[in-house]
Amino acid sequence: MNDLDDLVAIGRGDPEGMLGSIAGLGGQLQKGYDLGRSAAALPLGEGVTAVVICGMGGSGIGGDVIRALSAGRTGFPVVVVKGHELPEFCGRDTLVLAESFSGNTEETLAAYAEAVRRGCRVVAVSAGGRLAALAEADETPHLALPTDVGMPRAALGYLAGAPLGILEAAELIPPAEEDIDRTVALLDAASEELGPHRSTEANPAKALAAWVGDRVSVIWGSSGVAEVAAVRWKTQFNENAKRPAFHSVLPELDHNEIEGWREGAGAGFAVILLRHPGESGRMGRRIDATLEAIAPSGLDVRQVHARGRTPLEWLFSLIMTGDFATVYTAILHGIDPTPVPVLTGLKDRLRG
Ligand code: F6R
Repeated sequence: MNDLDDLVAIGRGDPEGMLGSIAGLGGQLQKGYDLGRSAAALPLGEGVTAVVICGMGGSGIGGDVIRALSAGRTGFPVVVVKGHELPEFCGRDTLVLAESFSGNTEETLAAYAEAVRRGCRVVAVSAGGRLAALAEADETPHLALPTDVGMPRAALGYLAGAPLGILEAAELIPPAEEDIDRTVALLDAASEELGPHRSTEANPAKALAAWVGDRVSVIWGSSGVAEVAAVRWKTQFNENAKRPAFHSVLPELDHNEIEGWREGAGAGFAVILLRHPGESGRMGRRIDATLEAIAPSGLDVRQVHARGRTPLEWLFSLIMTGDFATVYTAILHGIDPTPVPVLTGLKDRLRG
C-alpha cells in the first residue's frame, strides 16, 4: 500500500496527473459556463417544451447535474438520455444537447443523428471527434470544449458548465453567474484542503480513502443533488480506483435495499452517506431511522457533508470530495487512476 502522506509516492502513483485535473474543477466550470453563454448561433429557447441532454459516462453526468439543478425550477422537463434512443416525444420544440467529450461515443452519435433527423433544436458539445465533424457537415451549432484534460470524467467542469451556459443564453434558466462565481471560489478553496499537500490527518478525502481500505463502497444520497453526487462517486470508484462500487438513493432504498442488510451482512462494505443542507426535515428523520434499522448489519457508515449555500455549491463540493477520495483510493492500492483499459478496449472492439 502506498503512503498517502508521501508526496513522492503520490506523484509516482498518479503519473498522468489526475489529481491536477480534479483540482481544476472550479476553473473548468467557469470556462465551460463562459463558453456556453457566449456560443454563437445557438437555437432559440422560445417555445422549447423539453430539454434533452444525451451523453454517456463522464459526459452523461454533466446532464445529470443539469437535471438535478433544474428540478422544480423550469416549466419543462429536463431529461437525460444515456443510450442510443431518443424519447418518442422529441421533436421541433425539443432542445437536444448532445455531449461527448471525445466526440466519438456510439450511443451519443446515434442520439445526435436521430435528433437532427427529427428536426429538434440541436447543439453538439465535444472536444472534437466525429461529433464535431458531423455537426459541421449538418450545420448544427457545435461548442468546442478545451482539450487540456485527457479523460472525459476529468472534464466534468466543462461538461456541466457548458450546458448551463447554453441554457442561460437561450433564456431557459435564470442567470447563474453569481452562483458560478461562488461555486468556483468554494471549489478552489476546497482543492487546497483536499489536495495532495495536506496530510491524511487534515484531509477528509485522504482519510476517507484510508477508511474505505479494501472494502466495497456503497454510496447513498437523497434524491436530487445528493443522488447525482452518489452516481459520480460510484463511477469514480469504478474508473479511478478500478473497484466495484454501488450507489442507491433515499427514500427508494428504504423500500428494498435495507432488507438485504440483515444481521452481519455489512462485513466487507463501507457506506458513504452524502448529506446537504437542502435536505428536508422529513428526509433527515428518515435517514436517522434508516441507520437505526440497519444497525444490526454491522455496516460501517461515514457521512460526508456538502459545503456552501446553494444546490450548485452542494453538488460540486460533494463531487470534488469524491473525486479526490477515489483517486487517493487508487494511489493507495498502487492503481494508476487515469487509464481505463477495459472500458476503452470494449469501445475499440465494438467500433471494429
Ligand atoms: C472515461 C469516462 C467514460 C466516458 C464515456 C463516454 O474517462 O469518463 O465514462 O465519458 O465512455 O465517452 P465520451 O465522454 O467521450 O462520450
